[in-house]
Amino acid sequence: MSLILGIESSCDETAAALVTSDRRLIAHKLAGQEAQHRPYGGVVPEIAARAHVDILPALVEDVLAEGNVTLADVDAIAATAGPGLIGGVMVGLLTAKGLALAARKPLVAVNHLEGHALSPMLSHPDLDFPYLLLLVSGGHCQLLLVEGVGAYRRLATTIDDAAGEAFDKSAKLLGLGFPGGPAVERAAAEGDPRAVPLPRPLVGSAEPHFSFAGLKSAVLRAHQAERWSVTDIAASFQQAVVDCLVDRTRRALDAAPQATALVVAGGVAANGAVRAALTTLAGEAGLPFVAPPLWLCTDNAAMIAWAGALRFEEGMVDGLDAPARARWPL
Ligand code: KG4
Ligand code: ZN
Repeated sequence: MSLILGIESSCDETAAALVTSDRRLIAHKLAGQEAQHRPYGGVVPEIAARAHVDILPALVEDVLAEGNVTLADVDAIAATAGPGLIGGVMVGLLTAKGLALAARKPLVAVNHLEGHALSPMLSHPDLDFPYLLLLVSGGHCQLLLVEGVGAYRRLATTIDDAAGEAFDKSAKLLGLGFPGGPAVERAAAEGDPRAVPLPRPLVGSAEPHFSFAGLKSAVLRAHQAERWSVTDIAASFQQAVVDCLVDRTRRALDAAPQATALVVAGGVAANGAVRAALTTLAGEAGLPFVAPPLWLCTDNAAMIAWAGALRFEEGMVDGLDAPARARWPL
């Protein structure tokens, strides 16, 4: 059994966690930066990086104190090494390197997407490889067949915006505020999802990928037409996203009949309409539907520590020269 300290700083959440290789979450802390970015209507990379610098050291001390351990008790230090906003990734990775150097512990450089991909195993111990993961967040929109640690087959990705990005941008266009996803969902609850004719990009196509940029433009045109209420546009937009996600996921399930479960992760998994539609889809496919608790679906350090634990157990450790990467496909 090993004990891993994990650090996450690739976007606008600063987080640290302690996780064991036998799936015990010893401690986790997270500091969001929503208030700092809200005036700009989106995440400002420079502000995010500076905030990570300010917050991270104290968060690491907090989790060690909460776990009642010191760095000497930790077996390895894992940090997100990408993909993400490069300034933030560098803050977390360099912090991890400094701690690893000072405490003479191995470093595990974790791909943030791998963290998301393996996180459902923490909340659902019965989950078996291979499973199909729909990863839908502000930065990512992918379908991954998770076959094992370090074995991921990407079946689909977005050719333009991520699903969460479409929620955020549409919310901004509709004057609903930041972050956009929850605001759109609240507005959608008051609207009619059939009111506004909106496109379903790539639905029905043999191509596996997602596309949301056209949908966002259609939301802008609908808003400018001044024919529909904001709530009707929000509800119709949310329905269009749900239809796209379901269609593309159904196609991936057909392409990966070996999948033992349908799993969703990422911030958009918080959306009730998305969850309901995926539950139905999994039922039709005769598969269990796994949605980790929300805190584990969105960016956090427990998933990085957990991915680090699995990699460490497999002997996959990294040197102090491990690079920070803005782009790093799984
Ligand atoms: O996973 P996450 O916290 O960070 C990224 O890695 O991006 O996801 C954040 C994204 C944002 O785009 C946010 O608008 C979206 O998830 N989101 C939602 C909801 N809650 C968060 N989208 C739709 N409905 C929601 N209820
Ligand atoms: Zn993420």
